[in-house]
Amino acid sequence: MTEDKTAAVTGATGFLGSHLCERLLADGWDVRALSRPSSDREVLEGADEGEDGALEWYVGDVFDDETLRELVDGTDAVFHLAGVGLWSATPETVKRVNRDGTAHVLKACRASEDGVGRLVFTSTAGTRRPNEASPFADESDVAEPIGAYQSSKAEAEQLVDRYADDEGGDAVTVHPTSVFGPRDGSFTPQLLSMGLEPTMPAYLPGGLSIVGVSDVVDGILAAYEKGGNGEHYILGGENLTYDRAVSRISEHLGGTPARIPVPSTAIHAAGPVAEAVGAATGRQVFPFNRRMAKLATERLFYTSEKAADELGYEYEPLEAHLPETVAWYRTEFQ
Ligand SMILES: NC(=O)c1ccc[n+]([C@@H]2O[C@H](COP(=O)([O-])OP(=O)(O)OC[C@H]3O[C@@H](n4cnc5c(N)ncnc54)[C@H](OP(=O)(O)O)[C@@H]3O)[C@@H](O)[C@H]2O)c1
Repeated sequence: MTEDKTAAVTGATGFLGSHLCERLLADGWDVRALSRPSSDREVLEGADEGEDGALEWYVGDVFDDETLRELVDGTDAVFHLAGVGLWSATPETVKRVNRDGTAHVLKACRASEDGVGRLVFTSTAGTRRPNEASPFADESDVAEPIGAYQSSKAEAEQLVDRYADDEGGDAVTVHPTSVFGPRDGSFTPQLLSMGLEPTMPAYLPGGLSIVGVSDVVDGILAAYEKGGNGEHYILGGENLTYDRAVSRISEHLGGTPARIPVPSTAIHAAGPVAEAVGAATGRQVFPFNRRMAKLATERLFYTSEKAADELGYEYEPLEAHLPETVAWYRTEFQ
């Protein structure tokens, strides 16, 4: 139980942020949660009932300097999770929210009158990639960003590093891999449908690191408590090909696994099509270009050894996260 501590959380209405808020409240933290006027705050309705910590909403966005200053001023921790991906926003918005939004959060921390505790920034494992020397990427495998999401996160990481290294701030960056769990609107339902639904016969080539949302929340809190100033930690899970992940889900739950692999060539072909549509219409219709399409067919495996050694980070196998996640999936999608 952590008593008398206050956390500021951006992205509190999102998948990962709402799970983090629930954990903080259960651990006794008071939580100041940032919400846009349009955000669905019901996701955390009653989350502080029966808990020691209290939840308070701060309404604004990551460009609203006054709200951000009030949000972070005098807090013990700032958990910055607000962000957008290419499936829901244009490349311009992705850059603005992920990079410039982080700059605004850092500005609020610097301007804090009553001081501010450690900032934990949630970036992505996508700024790192496996290479010929190692099939499992670690924190040092910084990769050339592909697409606006990765480049915006890479630039935000540099801002956070500068805050920690040169500007007297205290900050740690975490890099979750593909997060699996209830309330995720994208990756989790896609993966479960490939493992469960007879109407979804195809699975993707390549592979990825799948980590349960509760393990990522543990990792974020461990980074706050034990991480080194300016350090980066990959928070990954099991490295699985899509084929293996889909089989494991269907074996565990008695579903109908997707049996047809989508050929890599088909996905590679989709890249140029999306590029051509984008060039012709002046809008990016899909978050794809050639390089992103190729990336989608690779084995993007990661090691969390540094987080394990320095933070005591651990993750559970995919099956441990299935009961709660599938119960949620069935109420939302079946
Ligand atoms: N999920 C993953 O697999 C994964 C993996 C690696 C890293 N990450 C990172 O983890 C963070 C959380 O991801 P998630 O999956 O929880 O995403 P999510 O469910 O889409 O949540 C995103 C959150 O950011 C908020 N947000 C977006 N634009 C904002 C703005 N302009 N001002 C203030 N808040 C804004 C959203 O508010 P609304 O509710 O109003 O939309 C929401 O609360 C992101 O930074 C993401 O890049 C996620």
